[in-house]
Amino acid sequence: MKVLILGSGGREHALAWAIARSPRVTEIVCAPGNGGMAQMARCVPVDLKDLDAMVRLAEAERPGLTVVGPEQPLSLGIVDALRERGLRVFGPTRAAAMLETSKGFAKQFLKRHNIPTANYAICSNAAEVNKIIEMFHAPIVVKADGLFAGKGVIVCPSRHTAVEAAQGLFSGALLGETAQQIVIEEFLEGDEISFLCLSDGKHVAPLVPSQDHKRVGEGDTGPNTGGMGVYSTDVLLDPAMSEWILRHIAEPTVAGMAAEGAPFSGVLYCGLMMTARGPQVLEFNARFGDPETQAILVRLESDLVDALEACIDGRLAETSLRWSAGASACVVASSGGYPGSYKTALPIAGLAAAAQVPGVEVFHAGTALKDGQILTAGGRVLGVTAAADSLRQALDRAYQAMAEISFEGMYYRRDIGHRALK
Ligand code: AMP
Ligand code: GLY
Repeated sequence: MKVLILGSGGREHALAWAIARSPRVTEIVCAPGNGGMAQMARCVPVDLKDLDAMVRLAEAERPGLTVVGPEQPLSLGIVDALRERGLRVFGPTRAAAMLETSKGFAKQFLKRHNIPTANYAICSNAAEVNKIIEMFHAPIVVKADGLFAGKGVIVCPSRHTAVEAAQGLFSGALLGETAQQIVIEEFLEGDEISFLCLSDGKHVAPLVPSQDHKRVGEGDTGPNTGGMGVYSTDVLLDPAMSEWILRHIAEPTVAGMAAEGAPFSGVLYCGLMMTARGPQVLEFNARFGDPETQAILVRLESDLVDALEACIDGRLAETSLRWSAGASACVVASSGGYPGSYKTALPIAGLAAAAQVPGVEVFHAGTALKDGQILTAGGRVLGVTAAADSLRQALDRAYQAMAEISFEGMYYRRDIGHRALK
């Protein structure tokens, strides 16, 4: 079977790597792909913001399965468009992806279905913010409604700064784009967990839990990023808590979407805060996480393609996922300056030596293959990923491999997973 993977990041390289292990797969096409995917698959250019171009590509390639990585094509309705043309595609429809693409929709949905989440208000102008802000105690979280690559969330230390942040989102001063709606939210305290599940629209199958490190700096300091590293262990969530999250968050979400006429099939990514009053939904994503996917898939022992197809066919209840016991970790190497501006097209050395470290997979994110040389091509450049019997060993392996790699300005956090080691 030919598989088409849409996307160009570390998540898509990890998906391509896991999909390539399926004995049923004969060909992988990545669009647009990156330097790592170019070494294992055929890459074809496509603009992930151009629905027609993606549809034309899929119609020309006629893949047996299309897997959508990032949120942008989902928000444009790529799944609806390919399904209409009789193509098999893994991911939610545009309507179902609203769980991610509209924070306002997601919050109202959560309240409608009594799924635990922070208290909130939705405002569409500054006057509404001024009025409602009196109901909140600092710190206050202000979120732009829409896809802003994780940059639309501001934690404000006071009511006054929250009003300012809201004004900045409405005027466009903060994001370069004006927000139509914003969500004002109670600040939640606790540990964040990425709880990802597969869904076929009816049933839910959890993937192993993981914890992302979103801040750029060690000790969780500095600005938010797409994710600087992640780890997954069996002890991150005890079985009773996993079961609780499944019963009270993931399953009611899938049942609620089906009841509202927008069944959700694909990956339901529940971003949770483990608070003193229990797990609360911070956000949903309608796709695999990046870099969560890298750490999750190195622990998957069963066939990913079978599982993705079970989601498309509504057979998830008959499918079981098998995982390696133990742990995994993914450490991201980023360009100097990320998440601000940074240089690109810098040669990367040491990739072959890094790949020799036992248990390690070096997933490429922002890289390009040019004249046989791998060059940097983005903010997050590589996800050095390792699985092992223990978190300590997984981290040791990832950092040992990382030490082999170098490029000008390369930066990575040295404390991924440290909180869990204590
Ligand atoms: P979101 O895109 O909604 O997940 O927000 C991005 C990040 O902001 C989350 O991963 C949290 O670290 C933080 N965040 C969002 N909402 C809250 C909240 N209500 N309380 C505390 N932190 C939050
Ligand atoms: N790592 C966070 C995300 O994929 O949204």
